[in-house]
Formats: sequence, C-alpha cells, structure tokens
Amino acid sequence: MLTRKKVTVIGAGHVGATAAQGLAEKEMADVVLIDIHEDMPAGKALDLAEAAPIYGYDSRLVGGADYEASADSDIVVITSGLPRKPGMSRDDLLRVNAKIVNEVTAKAVEKSPDAILIVVSNPLDAMTYVAYRTSGFPKKRVMGMAGVLDAARFKAFLAMELNVSIENIQTIVLGGHGDSMVPLPRYTTISGIPIMELISKDRLDAIVQRTRDGGAEIVKLLKTGSAYYAPSAAIVEMVESILKDKNKILPCSALCTGEYKLDEVFIGVPVRLGNTGIEQIYEINLSTEEASALTASAKTVQDLCKIAGEVL
Ligand code: LAC
Repeated sequence: MLTRKKVTVIGAGHVGATAAQGLAEKEMADVVLIDIHEDMPAGKALDLAEAAPIYGYDSRLVGGADYEASADSDIVVITSGLPRKPGMSRDDLLRVNAKIVNEVTAKAVEKSPDAILIVVSNPLDAMTYVAYRTSGFPKKRVMGMAGVLDAARFKAFLAMELNVSIENIQTIVLGGHGDSMVPLPRYTTISGIPIMELISKDRLDAIVQRTRDGGAEIVKLLKTGSAYYAPSAAIVEMVESILKDKNKILPCSALCTGEYKLDEVFIGVPVRLGNTGIEQIYEINLSTEEASALTASAKTVQDLCKIAGEVL
C-alpha cells in the first residue's frame, strides 16, 4: 500500500511557510507547520489548503503548536530561531538560537524518532551540530541546508553576468554558511566549459564575493528580515532528493569525520541525498588554497560549536 509521506516544518515564518508552499505545490508530502504561536501556523496551513483546489495539489496541510500532529514524520525541517537584534552580539544570537534549536529538536525527535532532520536555522553549521547532539541521530540523518542556497546564488549571478541559462551552470560551494564559505570556480562550468574561459578573473572574484555576501545583500534590501524564496527552494530540492530517492549530489552541511582531514565538524561538502539521508560524502580534490580555505572555515564553525555546546 502506498503511504503518504509527511514533512514537518518547524518555524512558520517566511522560510518555513514558503517551504511548506513549495512542498505542497510539488505534492511531495503532507505538511505539518509548527510554531510556538498556536494560531499563526494554523492560519498559514489553512490558507495553503485553500489554495490547493486552484493549484490542484492533494497534499494535506495542518498547523499549530502541538508536536503531536508531527508524529512519524519522514523529514523534519527546522527553521526556528531569532534574527539578530540591535545590540546583540553574534555570540548572544548563537546562544539564543542554540537553546531554541535544542528545544524544538528534542520535541520533534520524541514524536518522529526515525525522521531525517534538515536544519535551516542560523548560524547554520553550528545549529546543525546542536540538532545532531540533541537528537542523538546517526550522522546520515542530520544535515544543514546552506550549500544548495549558496550555489544557487553563485549560479544566478553567473547567469546574469554571462546572459546564459541557469540550467547550463554547474558549481560546488564548500565550507560554512557565512563569510568563510568556499565557492569553487575550478569546479564551475557552463555547459561543460570551464568558467575561467568565459569570464575575467576580476569579474569572477567579484561574483564569488557577492555569493559570500548573498544573505546580507537580501537583508539590506528587505530591511526587516532575511531571504526566504531561495532558501525555501533549496529546502524543497533537498526534501525531493530524499523522499524520491533521487540521489542528487548537493552541497549540504554534513558531519565530517575524517573527510577533508576534518574531525567531527559539520560543514558544507558535496553529499548524495537518498531516502536514508546522506548516502555518501564526496571528497573531491582541492588545491592547496582551496583546502586551506576549507580548513579555515571549519575552524570558524568549530569555534561557534564550542559556544553552542555550552547551552546543551
Ligand atoms: C541567507 C541567510 C538567511 O543566506 O542565511 O539568506
């Protein structure tokens, strides 16, 4: 018998709600939206259910504050967390969000002990570590969404620059989600043509920097929040690869235990996503410069994890 898949999205803000919309529109699963506010997620889920007859999807959507509705989810997406407020240091935010992610993870895994966790809360790699520690899940069932988003931004900027289809662009972005991320021009091609043959070094460097600053660029424009369309799209692509066992190779934050000479750190690396979660981590060849950028990025993440670990 065919059973419906269930995805729970915790945090019904812009990212969570837009991800729920994308999942429903693709009929990927039934969706449960959870938030600390009782009515708001219920309202958003109902609104999405009322859009269903127009779009023609049969995914069922419910929302609320009670985790009971999330029981036996195949995937739990964690988007909860506060944005940085004026006067708050990065460390303050880290502690606050670590507490939130710890709490929602504990509640979610109690109801869905076999789920796969996709963490979206920031600072991304450290929050993924928190969810890993709190859940006690095997490493293949805990991952962070960042590389798909960062790679999408890199591709979008390249397509704008070169006036080519976004479908022609292949790329990989490694490292932590933040200033230390490591876009890889050497693994970037346009329809198989190495990017370096199509663009000057100066322009490429500028686009790599714009990719690193991609999140901040949107925050600056929106003024009251951060990006959500592209982050949600990235969540949907990861969920689809898992639920449909597509085995896409996507950059995700994964626990490296020896890969890239990194010890016990969540960081963006290319992984294969199938129905058991992270099926494989790919260790690609890196130049000395790329390898040291990745090591530096991992060090930054490890420092954050140390602070985040204090609240567990
Ligand atoms: C971004 C933030 C939200 O990259 O992580 O948009």
